[in-house]
Amino acid sequence: MTALLDIDRVSVHIPLKSGFLQSPLSLRAVEDVSLKVGRSETLAIVGESGSGKSTLGYVVAGLRKQTAGNVRFNSSRAAAPGENPAQIIFQDPFSALDPRMTVGEIVAEPLRLRSIGQKERLGRAANVLEQVGMPADAARRYPHQFSGGQRQRIAIARALIGEPELIVADEPLSALDVSIQSKILNLLADIKDQHGISYFFISHDLGVVHHLADRVAVLYLGRLMEVAPRDEIFRTPSHPYTQALLDAVPRIGRGRRKHQALKGEIPTPLAPPPGCVFNTRCPRAQDICRRERPALLPAPGRPGQLAACHFKD
Ligand SMILES: Nc1ncnc2c1ncn2[C@@H]1O[C@H](COP(=O)(O)OP(=O)(O)OP(=O)(O)O)[C@@H](O)[C@H]1O
Ligand SMILES: [Mg+2]
Repeated sequence: MTALLDIDRVSVHIPLKSGFLQSPLSLRAVEDVSLKVGRSETLAIVGESGSGKSTLGYVVAGLRKQTAGNVRFNSSRAAAPGENPAQIIFQDPFSALDPRMTVGEIVAEPLRLRSIGQKERLGRAANVLEQVGMPADAARRYPHQFSGGQRQRIAIARALIGEPELIVADEPLSALDVSIQSKILNLLADIKDQHGISYFFISHDLGVVHHLADRVAVLYLGRLMEVAPRDEIFRTPSHPYTQALLDAVPRIGRGRRKHQALKGEIPTPLAPPPGCVFNTRCPRAQDICRRERPALLPAPGRPGQLAACHFKD
């Protein structure tokens, strides 16, 4: 079966400008990443800060252009002109909503590219607002009249109104109170059940990832380290980087620490280390790791679990 979303060897290099001279330096935010997301599948993207998660999410949502590679949606229906089959929800529900627009206008906005009259747009906005659990009069009010959790519901309504096939969720819970997080998490799960939507779900929180992901992709310095079904990656992580990430949260999946904690800082993406980009922090690094980039290949005896490591488990 063809995947809904096919990310094929995507790189994002960001040229750095210094003064009036164009510097030849470019920052490698995403490097040669290939991933697929199936219909109604949740692919979680994890990795430390600066690993390229958001940049890849923006490419998927059509907000940023990749410098190499392709992003293809095998959509079941034609998108309206100028419209991306994916919508995005951001981390911060405070800055994401225009304070001068009513909630109804904000939610209806993605439909403006379609030839749908204003009355119908606002009617549909009222419908999705109800679906995400907002009060009936919300459409006439302004974002500042709502709490963080309610604003995230408004952002979700806006993402839903165009009936996207995939939603990029970039840390959608991390700005919210813990008590609200599980409510929004349940809402996202209900939406997936009802609409068959796929999620490209970016999160630092491995507890949340364990709860909702079907598969997990691990990024480090813009590169894919490991990708596997949720249970495999939590029970038997193959890549030393994944193992270190999981060991930082011993309560999930496995008991006590088995592996060494991560040491040192992430190297600069202006000059990623040669060979395996993780070699400078890896407890298993040998000479070959500093020379040869490991290909993303199945872990021994686990065909569905891919890891880019010369010494993977
Ligand atoms: N517009 C930009 N200009 C310059 N550098 C950028 C830009 N956008 C991203 N970067 C750099 O690209 C790299 C990847 O950034 P990105 O925001 O994708 O990481 P992330 O995994 O989302 O991190 P976080 O967990 O902190 O959100 C970082 O080194 C970041 O500084
Ligand atoms: Mg980010």
